[in-house]
Amino acid sequence: MSKAFNARAAIEEVSFTVREREFVAVLGPSGAGKTTLFRCLTGLLAPDRGEIRIGGDDIGALRGRSRRRIAVVFQQFNLVNRLTAFENVLAGRLGYVPAWRGWLRRFGRTDRLFALECLDRVGLLGQAMQRADTLSGGQQQRVAIARALAQRPSLIVADEPVASLDPNASVGVLDLLRGIARADGVGVVCSLHQVHFARAYADRVVGLSHGRVVIDAPTDRFDQAAFERLYGPQPAEAAPTALAALQH
Ligand SMILES: Nc1ncnc2c1ncn2[C@@H]1O[C@H](COP(=O)(O)OP(=O)(O)O)[C@@H](O)[C@H]1O
Ligand SMILES: [Mg+2]
Repeated sequence: MSKAFNARAAIEEVSFTVREREFVAVLGPSGAGKTTLFRCLTGLLAPDRGEIRIGGDDIGALRGRSRRRIAVVFQQFNLVNRLTAFENVLAGRLGYVPAWRGWLRRFGRTDRLFALECLDRVGLLGQAMQRADTLSGGQQQRVAIARALAQRPSLIVADEPVASLDPNASVGVLDLLRGIARADGVGVVCSLHQVHFARAYADRVVGLSHGRVVIDAPTDRFDQAAFERLYGPQPAEAAPTALAALQH
């Protein structure tokens, strides 16, 4: 896919494959094009060129409900604050929260039970009836993951899902995402700022720099040279830190 803003390329011929059960980390400095890529993947933005295929289907050409096959998790959770955790997850059955009122009544028993099951999977059954804005950041992100699960997606796309969370909550969220990839056969594409999280959780690293893929390799091949190709040469003082991040 390629996408330009005002004739300036944000992503340029970005291409990669995500397999079932695979957790792919997207790394790259700010401005590399990660969010643009993710917004194109999820249909929030129309790419200038390119396509997203799931199996044989061109998702970009599909409308409405088929889009549910790609679920999104955002950095800022994007829950509806005044709704309960349960209602937010139920909204996942629609893909996105519709603007009109009274939509909850449309859901039958099967959908409601499935929403509760999704909340149970992220460990929040006990908080089902709590308003979203009274949950902690980590809990809100787990509700967002439950909402993604409620879509029964083939692919989960998470744009810096732990950037607003403390280290413990981050680990909880990444454990969940990787567990879902493994257990449900879902592909997970997840952008991260902390290289050590990519090292710990990802099967593969896709590195973006100036809108292009400069690295696409199994995580254990993401070494110091690859690190510097993405983030630039590290000054001697920073080297131990960079290395510690890699070895964490
Ligand atoms: N809506 C927009 N209008 C104009 N330029 C944009 C827009 N969104 C992103 N960009 C530009 O595209 C480039 C990539 O941005 P972004 O995808 O947000 O990178 P990242 O998420 O890796 O930090 C940046 O140069 C950014 O300024
Ligand atoms: Mg971004």
